[in-house]
Amino acid sequence: MKIGILTGGGDCPGLNAVIRAAVRKGIFHYNDQFVGFLEGWRGVLEKKTMPLDLNAVAGILPRGGTILRTSRTNPAKRDGGLEQCLANLKELGVDAMICIGGDDTNSVTYKLHQRGFKVVGVPKTIDNDLSGTDQCFGFDTAVSIATEAIDRVHSTAEAHNRVIVVEVMGRDSGWIAVYSGIAGGADVIIIPERPFNLREISQTLKRRHERGRYFSIVVVAEGAKMAPDDASGEASLVTTAEGKDEFGHVRLGGIGNVVAAGIEKLTGYETRAVILGHTQRGGSPTPFDRVLATRYGLGAIDLVHQNAWGQIVALKGQQITGIPLEEALKENRKVSKDLIDAALGLQDTPPIV
Ligand code: F6P
Repeated sequence: MKIGILTGGGDCPGLNAVIRAAVRKGIFHYNDQFVGFLEGWRGVLEKKTMPLDLNAVAGILPRGGTILRTSRTNPAKRDGGLEQCLANLKELGVDAMICIGGDDTNSVTYKLHQRGFKVVGVPKTIDNDLSGTDQCFGFDTAVSIATEAIDRVHSTAEAHNRVIVVEVMGRDSGWIAVYSGIAGGADVIIIPERPFNLREISQTLKRRHERGRYFSIVVVAEGAKMAPDDASGEASLVTTAEGKDEFGHVRLGGIGNVVAAGIEKLTGYETRAVILGHTQRGGSPTPFDRVLATRYGLGAIDLVHQNAWGQIVALKGQQITGIPLEEALKENRKVSKDLIDAALGLQDTPPIV
């Protein structure tokens, strides 16, 4: 079988491990041939490809990024874009596609499936918020990086009697914030699941300082929204640029600065913000993510040979399985109540979520 592979959306440590595993098992066990499409759906739209054989995937397991590169190109936004993709796949003799991406990339996968093309998805999001799967690869790496950063700002915050606000990724869900916040011993964790109130947060920090502590660490997810001061307004997001990408997303970033300025004003404590941004997605995956990503790649090629078209690989407990793409695309997976309760259990009163 000739199988195309693409990686779309934001990159994630472990993408190369997925590609490598699918290609190796496909060649060794199923006698498959592969073609790599470059830069996500742009590669399919514009027939930008690279050979994907054992040589191409040699040595890529520990590498961050993706050898196929990526983009947020959305063929469904172009006139005749989906038909162009189908025509190009036919011309290149591609029998099936493995599409590694989040809800945006896989919404296009699903559209091709609806048009009768053979597709299998692999869930990918650093935010860890795709429905139907218990954990995405890359998340463990991001949490490790964020936790190390929180550990590091602790000592400088303590040395200067400061509050330090650490901004982490998390557009719609606060998984990275809650995990790294608990792991790093943050005093306040702010997540997109519930608009936050700066006055409550400042009160919490004041109580902590009255108990004799003289520094604090706050972790905020970039998609956190500030609650309106009165009942009239909408909770607002902080963005770094005008406009939206091809899937309709604003560019987030900077909520850490807003939170830091608010805390300084309301408490009088000297406050700084650190925005971790893309450092969380860069570099080598952790061993956990290498194994998980490898299992996702193996799961994808197995789904292909089970003719499980329109499915996406999922982790359920310890088990790799397949679920319908619709299930993965229906909504964002929010931080579980268990985890929120764990974070709340460590605080005197609940300023988190
Ligand atoms: O969707 C994953 C994500 O990492 C979000 O957390 C973040 O808002 C966004 O991607 C950043 O996108 P870009 O790489 O386009 O700046």
